[in-house]
Amino acid sequence: MPSRSLMAANWKMFKTVGESTAYAKELCRRMESWHEEAPEQVICPTLPALYTVSRALSQSSVKIGAQSLDLGREGANTGAVSGYLIREAGAAYVIVGHSERRQLYGEDDELVAEKAASALASHLIPIICVGETESQRNAGETDPVVDRQVTRALQRLTGAATVVIAYEPLWAIGTGLVPDPSEANRVAGRIRDAVQKIRPETTTTVRILYGGSVNRGNIRDFACQPQLDGALVGGASLDVAHWLDLIKGWQEVRQ
Ligand code: PGA
Repeated sequence: MPSRSLMAANWKMFKTVGESTAYAKELCRRMESWHEEAPEQVICPTLPALYTVSRALSQSSVKIGAQSLDLGREGANTGAVSGYLIREAGAAYVIVGHSERRQLYGEDDELVAEKAASALASHLIPIICVGETESQRNAGETDPVVDRQVTRALQRLTGAATVVIAYEPLWAIGTGLVPDPSEANRVAGRIRDAVQKIRPETTTTVRILYGGSVNRGNIRDFACQPQLDGALVGGASLDVAHWLDLIKGWQEVRQ
């Protein structure tokens, strides 16, 4: 299994450029005395803030991610931002197939697969999100839904691609509800098996995160789960003190 945990902050459509940069500077300041063993951190700000946040964090070990990307490299695509441009602005990661993109912007499994391939072609590591809805969960369909999403998302990749997969049950996002951590662990194990089946070259490097209402009260419960390599955090990542409590909580359990 991969050795270094990964904690990713998804800021969604929050924070101005000024607020984002101030957070990044404060994060650097608070991390000055930190130990190298801490989990890898990825901050995913809004696109307008990506460049300045990446500049503010350039002397730190914190990486930057975008929250989505468009296909292609450059061209007459009004309003689109490619992986190439995101990479050039300082990102190393990009979230792909977040349920809000799937639900609000109609992104389907096919587009998610194309975006994952496009991210890798742009030298970005995709953080691919999968997870069942509440009704799928109640119907006992979590496993087939997640298996299908993982299999389809990886179908266009070639060779030993480095990817991250975030298991984010939709009913847990922004609701304060979380699955039993042992259930999240079980699904993460299934995801690892699905990766092994479809992309065996990727199995040794894939990291599997849990996402959905992670906060300082439950982070240790997830950190105890051996199949989880980290967390994807929305609301609780918006405050720098809360975010660092999550990093410390994870580190405490894993070290
Ligand atoms: P949440 O969001 O932590 O606010 O539930 C997680 C996500 O959407 O990635």
